[in-house]
Amino acid sequence: MLTTRFTELVGIAHPVVQEPMGPHATDQLAAAVSEAGGLGTVSTPGRTPPAQAGGRVLRERIERTAALTDRPFAVNVPLIFAGRELNPLSIAYLRAVLDARSADSRVERGLKVVTTSGGPPGALRDPLRDAGLIHMHKIGSTRQAKKAEALGVDAIIACGYEMGGHTHDIPVHTFVLVPNVTEAVTVPVLLSGGGRDGRSLAAALCMGADGIAMGTRFIATEEHTDWHPAYAQAVVAASEGDDVVVNGRLLRNRFVDRLAGRPTVRTATKVAGRSRWAQRTMERYGESALRRAQRDGDVDGGIVAAGQVAGAINDIVKVAELVPTMADEAARILSGLADAHARAAVRG
Ligand SMILES: Cc1cc2nc3c(=O)[nH]c(=O)nc-3n(C[C@H](O)[C@H](O)[C@H](O)COP(=O)(O)O)c2cc1C
Repeated sequence: MLTTRFTELVGIAHPVVQEPMGPHATDQLAAAVSEAGGLGTVSTPGRTPPAQAGGRVLRERIERTAALTDRPFAVNVPLIFAGRELNPLSIAYLRAVLDARSADSRVERGLKVVTTSGGPPGALRDPLRDAGLIHMHKIGSTRQAKKAEALGVDAIIACGYEMGGHTHDIPVHTFVLVPNVTEAVTVPVLLSGGGRDGRSLAAALCMGADGIAMGTRFIATEEHTDWHPAYAQAVVAASEGDDVVVNGRLLRNRFVDRLAGRPTVRTATKVAGRSRWAQRTMERYGESALRRAQRDGDVDGGIVAAGQVAGAINDIVKVAELVPTMADEAARILSGLADAHARAAVRG
């Protein structure tokens, strides 16, 4: 067992979190991760649906996940602002969380955590605390981490630039960000961006974090039946250098190359497609292209959002094995290092 401040805060066995991957559903995946002793996260249908419809879909997803596990799970609420006010979709997502919990005691028992992302988390702090929910917030800089702590969040997910999906405008990579954040705040911190196995978890703990949070590794899993199998295969097939940042980190394919304005983008992680046209195309077609890959399996003509770690993921694994194996492997590495250190000290 690897007990940390985070596992104690949430009441789970292993310090391993599956992060949100909206607009796609992650209901079955979230339940599988929670059943395996980690913390699964339910994802929203994205930033574009009308508020009422978005709230309804999120509530259905929450209820489906609660029906599959009695263990704690999380829900993502993206913080989208209209000026200084939260926009109606974010409010509808918050309502879906609160209503689902008050309508059903099983949901209330399981849904223990809300993970906010996007804008500053202050607007949700009081409603989440009043509902007895644990509030985690995702950040991409030490400044944001300090601000989130000052606003009263219970834990921080520190996402390095290599993360999949909407990565940050200012590129601070995991290896630099996480120790900066763990030095700057006192609440539990999770490392996110580039995690894949027990070595990543051990490294997270060495950097002062209390656990690890991952998106991409969980796409290539057997229990992840919410998505078309071709999506997981695209992650497995990706090699080092196949990811590119175009309004978010994606795998290179026909769609992305067209956006980048040339037939192939050769440089690894090149920031491509910053042109107005590419920006507009992503805004207009981004979510439908995401769905084309995830729902229909068109991984060349749609968008395959994934982290840089996709280039290092070569197999489809079982969630039920991945989560406890990561914790075992990390514990073994850490105790092995401690033993080696003690032996060296004795030798003088
Ligand atoms: C397909 C995909 C969709 C994502 N959608 C969301 C989302 O809806 N909300 C969010 O906060 N983060 C989202 N992310 C980011 C992940 O939650 C997580 O921070 C990221 O995947 C971590 O990096 P990793 O992929 O290297 O593990 C998404 C990532 C991926 C790969």
